[in-house]
Amino acid sequence: MNITILGPGAIGSLYAYKLKQAGHDVSIWGRSPNSTVDIQLDHLPPLPFANQNLVVLKRTDLLIVTLKAWQVEAALSPLLPLLHPDTMILFLHNGMGSVDKLANALANFPVLLGTSTHGALRVNALHVNHTGLGETHIGAWNDKGQQCQFLSDVLHHALSPVKWHTSIQHALWTKLIINCAINPLTALENCSNGQLSEPRYRHQIEQIIDEAQSCAEKVDVTLDKASLKETVFNVITKTAKNYSSMQQDISQQRTSEIEFITGYVVSIAERYQLDIPENNALFKQIKCIEASWSKHD
Ligand SMILES: NC(=O)c1ccc[n+]([C@@H]2O[C@H](COP(=O)([O-])OP(=O)(O)OC[C@H]3O[C@@H](n4cnc5c(N)ncnc54)[C@H](OP(=O)(O)O)[C@@H]3O)[C@@H](O)[C@H]2O)c1
Repeated sequence: MNITILGPGAIGSLYAYKLKQAGHDVSIWGRSPNSTVDIQLDHLPPLPFANQNLVVLKRTDLLIVTLKAWQVEAALSPLLPLLHPDTMILFLHNGMGSVDKLANALANFPVLLGTSTHGALRVNALHVNHTGLGETHIGAWNDKGQQCQFLSDVLHHALSPVKWHTSIQHALWTKLIINCAINPLTALENCSNGQLSEPRYRHQIEQIIDEAQSCAEKVDVTLDKASLKETVFNVITKTAKNYSSMQQDISQQRTSEIEFITGYVVSIAERYQLDIPENNALFKQIKCIEASWSKHD
């Protein structure tokens, strides 16, 4: 297949390399001005990728969007009019809501949403390490996307395991709630995920989960509170030594994905007039930190 990766950072470079290794014609659309970019994965030899090539973009079969959620609208909007209407677009970022912002412009494309638990770390702009084996879950956003189930086999062949969901919302909300429970707290406490296993955080984490679960219910996504809590605390234990992306973003004064993680839950609560004090407080605290940087700039 002709595949383009929009946002070839850590996770995008991992997918680009793996898909190319699997025999696909893979190009990237990144911010480098170079027409060819060499990407190295782990200790494997670097592979060359065409970058920002309009001819290649126009014939791409699959566009995988691996930008940060807040980068999606600005980066993808100018490219949509250039794509063939049959181009499948797969969003593979954390958080929810970025696709809603582009709903009208995306309506005629086959659109898919996904979530990945693979770990990828950029050593530098051209070198990425696959730091944690994970899994990828994908499913359709619209009717045209429902016809693209074969993509799970394509992706599975390149970077397994990949699971197809007839309703992806369940998997996306589960990942969203894990992120709501871990990311803002680790950013505010400036700690690794493992610190959240200390008993003093338990009540707050359970509150965050309960509130977010009640929001999911409002949009017809049914999740069991007890198994959600078990999942969240399992992730905390399994990733004890890891630092969440939000902890890293906030400690390095980079815009976090709070708007599309806790902020998404807050927006659902506002729509349905639900009281979610823990998530509201975390959202405001992270936004306040981000706003303080621009005041100093
Ligand atoms: N890394 C992981 O292990 C991991 C795991 C699971 C999920 N995720 C999720 O995957 C998403 C991407 O994360 P990441 O860690 O891969 O982030 P990242 O390394 O920052 O990758 C984003 C890439 O998009 C590029 N970009 C930004 N604006 C662009 C534009 N207008 N046009 C083209 N490219 C643009 C960035 O370029 P610059 O570097 O020049 O800004 C960067 O290369 C996030 O939602 C994250 O939460 C990450």
